[in-house]
Amino acid sequence: MADRPYRIPVLCGTVRKGARSAEVGRWVTARLAEHPTVSTQLIELGSLGLATDDEGTAIKQREFSELIDQSDGLVIVSPEYNHGYPASLKHALDTNYTEYVHKPVGLVGVSAGPFGGARMIENLLPVLRGLGLVPIQRDATVGNVATAFDQAGALLDNGIRRRIDGMLTELRWMAAALRYGRQSVSTQTEAPPAKADCPECGLPMNHHASVIDEEAGGATTNVHACSICGGSATVSVGPS
Ligand SMILES: Cc1cc2nc3c(=O)[nH]c(=O)nc-3n(C[C@H](O)[C@H](O)[C@H](O)COP(=O)(O)O)c2cc1C
Repeated sequence: MADRPYRIPVLCGTVRKGARSAEVGRWVTARLAEHPTVSTQLIELGSLGLATDDEGTAIKQREFSELIDQSDGLVIVSPEYNHGYPASLKHALDTNYTEYVHKPVGLVGVSAGPFGGARMIENLLPVLRGLGLVPIQRDATVGNVATAFDQAGALLDNGIRRRIDGMLTELRWMAAALRYGRQSVSTQTEAPPAKADCPECGLPMNHHASVIDEEAGGATTNVHACSICGGSATVSVGPS
């Protein structure tokens, strides 16, 4: 099913009640949904109901993890809190790991002031790389968010619109390129290559990554993708 849509959800980066960045998230989701090759949906952190008495993959939320696992990319729309990213965003991101590997991520920063969350973006980049996501070059910032939209939710600043569109264009290209890579370009590290059959359609999968799972004490996990149905599988191969 090579023509299945590119699944690119939009993750809102805060659980703050009345967050203005949620409006930006809705706008970006609607913009992305206009593209015929893309399937998208808004993920609101608050609706995930993540536990707060534990951390990491131990508190995975099944629907969220499956959505990330089946996605071809991700947009994060997040406010800047004290020059960084919201703790609730990091808490949610940490609940997945192999689900992210070799998938592109585009960022939209949001702030009440003029800087549009630029400092949040810079602080978030190393975290995303650590998760195995591939941050793309272009991003967008929405400063002065209180006046960025009209009453009907229309974005008033054409410059911001162009920057978001540019980011989404690069993201769609990266989603296509990296999906091809995950499904068809082998790690080429083993002879013979590591093998896994797709848990969904049963056909042989492509081994595209070997990640070090620090949460699991540094064990190596092979990550495989299916070129037929888009399924994925992980195989733990022990200490690195
Ligand atoms: C805990 C907290 C810290 C904040 N720190 C910053 C900041 O460092 N820089 C900034 O421009 N705005 C900061 N703001 C204001 C946000 O930019 C403002 O709330 C804006 O509407 C975007 O956040 P929201 O999506 O939560 O509404 C902060 C807001 C909160 C609640």
